[in-house]
Amino acid sequence: MKVYLETLGCQMNRLDSELVAGSLRAAGHELTDDRQAADVVLYNTCSVRRHAEQKVHSRLGADGQRKTAHHPRLIVGVLGCMAQREGETLRRKHPHVDIVCGPGQIHALAEMIDAAAAGRASVALDPSRTAPRNETAETRMDELDLGRDVAAGESGAQAFVRVARGCDNFCSYCIVPYVRGPERSRDPQHIVTETHRLVDAGRSEITLLGQTVNAYCWQTGETTVRFSDLLQRVSEIPGLRRLRFVTSHPQRFGDDVLEAMRDLPNVCEYIHCPAQSGSDAMLAAMNRGYSRGEYDDLVDRARAIVPGVVLAGDFIVGFPGETEEDHTASAELIRRSGYKNCFVFKYSPRPGTLAARSLSDDVPVAVKKRRNNELLAVQAEVGLAHHRAYVGRPV
Ligand code: SAH
Ligand code: SF4
Ligand code: F3S
Repeated sequence: MKVYLETLGCQMNRLDSELVAGSLRAAGHELTDDRQAADVVLYNTCSVRRHAEQKVHSRLGADGQRKTAHHPRLIVGVLGCMAQREGETLRRKHPHVDIVCGPGQIHALAEMIDAAAAGRASVALDPSRTAPRNETAETRMDELDLGRDVAAGESGAQAFVRVARGCDNFCSYCIVPYVRGPERSRDPQHIVTETHRLVDAGRSEITLLGQTVNAYCWQTGETTVRFSDLLQRVSEIPGLRRLRFVTSHPQRFGDDVLEAMRDLPNVCEYIHCPAQSGSDAMLAAMNRGYSRGEYDDLVDRARAIVPGVVLAGDFIVGFPGETEEDHTASAELIRRSGYKNCFVFKYSPRPGTLAARSLSDDVPVAVKKRRNNELLAVQAEVGLAHHRAYVGRPV
């Protein structure tokens, strides 16, 4: 069948889509960029902000019309975080949806497509965070990563490799811990084997992925493999020219990682380490686990230990209770940190999160927009200095 697969959300979803595409090709399907010509339409979805979900609802509406009017056998599937968050509700809102597949169930997608072709819908969700660990499902997911089609990349020489799943941080605004489950690090030997295969196939730039990648930790018996140890092991793979990692959490960023960045020649001197806000009051309300002073200290340590280090960040504007003073503190932090680039997001209450349950979304939309533009303007100024430094410099 011809399969159209659209990916929303973060790098984790891009990686999952690459794995899905590989497994569907192996099952004999063909991928197409033309949604209108597809027999199977799949969305790998994101729930991090309302906007991302609305996009999928409107796509599903259009697919429903196409299915009714022209293509009764069209198979429609929703994968990823929104599938996990909404579950059965998605099929109540869009009765033509055949597949609802949580992020930890994508290993079984080919079977779900076969079932849909035979007229059976599938709703496969990940177990709740508190359910006992399902070793069989975990192993199948790891096998999907390990057995991936190393040649099939969307971006040529670059590839993502997962080092951990899930998140335990529970930042008060964030849906990720609810939809991606608890934090689990992968066996370092699997990570090395997978990266080796990718590099051997010509993928010379590898980005290690985790929601809080620097919290990576693997323990067996007496030995503990920290993130810095993992960087060391992966960096030794012959032919690996660039090693990157995202996303780092400021609270768990030890000097050992900075020293590894300094000492390992193929590790890129780039740290994406979101602050979210420059104000202590907001950081506390966001449950980020660090203060502004601790974030500043991390930036100073990074600059002292890693020569030429480049920083990037994320900010949320309009979090409940954010005053002009808090907002100014964020703008000031962008200047102080001297980021190369920053992503700025308007706060979007996510159902079920602590912030959505206990705080009212009290910053007006117009104020969020203005603050968003103001931070982007400061960042543009700060970023320009980085770009200017490259003018006339061969790299
Ligand atoms: N695990 C990563 C990425 C999380 S999602 C991290 O912790 O850095 C990516 C970004 O989306 C976050 O850094 C945050 O800036 C933003 N974000 C998450 N939830 C949000 C929400 N409810 N409203 C607006 N932005 C949000
Ligand atoms: Fe969300 Fe915070 Fe986890 Fe990042 S660290 S995924 S922002 S809960
Ligand atoms: Fe979105 Fe899920 Fe990633 S909510 S940001 S696709 S982990």
